[in-house]
Amino acid sequence: DEERLLIGRAVEYIKHSFFEHFTRFEPRTLIICGSGLGGVVDKVASNPQPLSISYEKIPGFKASTVAGHQGKLVFGYMQGSPVVLMCGRLHYYEGHAPHETVFPIRVLNELGCVKNLIVTNACGSVNPNYRDGDLMCLNDHINMPGLAGQHPLRGPNFEEYGSRFQALSDAYDLEFRKLLFAKRSQLGMDRPLHEGVYTYVSGPTFETRAEARMIRLFGGDVVGMSTVPEVIVARHCGIKVLALSLITNQVVTEPPASALDANPIPISRGKATHEEVLEAGFLASVDVERLIEAVVSEL
Ligand code: 6GU
Repeated sequence: DEERLLIGRAVEYIKHSFFEHFTRFEPRTLIICGSGLGGVVDKVASNPQPLSISYEKIPGFKASTVAGHQGKLVFGYMQGSPVVLMCGRLHYYEGHAPHETVFPIRVLNELGCVKNLIVTNACGSVNPNYRDGDLMCLNDHINMPGLAGQHPLRGPNFEEYGSRFQALSDAYDLEFRKLLFAKRSQLGMDRPLHEGVYTYVSGPTFETRAEARMIRLFGGDVVGMSTVPEVIVARHCGIKVLALSLITNQVVTEPPASALDANPIPISRGKATHEEVLEAGFLASVDVERLIEAVVSEL
């Protein structure tokens, strides 16, 4: 069908670019960089020179429209391991259909050599034990749009990749999570690393207080607008997943001041901004980069 044709064309373009650059290149790990977390690209070895392809040049690829996101693929070696980085990703809130947001994953899977996905994101926390700048390794997720019908696997199933009814009870690889915690210890990192549940929402608005309470009540630890569609499609392709969240802000769950209260207590905190998301990302991104490099050295 048409989707397969589009995927095929993008794959041909990428393979042709390889041919002009490397004698041979087979990326084993795909790394998707979240908001403000693109610095991991500096961990790619400069020899041999990495191959960078901007999304605009690849047939069928859409450009990311979000500040702090670039929009290129980088192919190269990290710690001797062949990797491909997605610097900039597509979000549903930008107006793409759910299957369009995961098109790059399908294309890179179609290269036939990608076995692992490491995906990062910036998120808000509804867990009172988490602080800004903390990291969280995903061990599960809640797909709010997916449960309501906005699902990346909706439509004809790609039988050659996976089953119509993909299991997601083992979406986040246990060995990868153990490896991540081991590497944090080895690096002597004191930045807290939690393990928890990521709640995917479509955005682009941040949550209301009532929505944040609902997410907490449902069992979510953090909330964000990415990652889950990519993880689902990767799992459908049989790719193993490690997902890492950077907590950039606390989502306020206390009810707002009441109009019926004679002396409403103003709550100063609680209005999330994209700027604070990028700022916390910058400060913690160094640790995220070191962790990813250390994990990739074992892959
Ligand atoms: Cl507070 N909410 C959502 N949905 N995404 C975020 C966030 C909050 N902070 C960073 N990304």
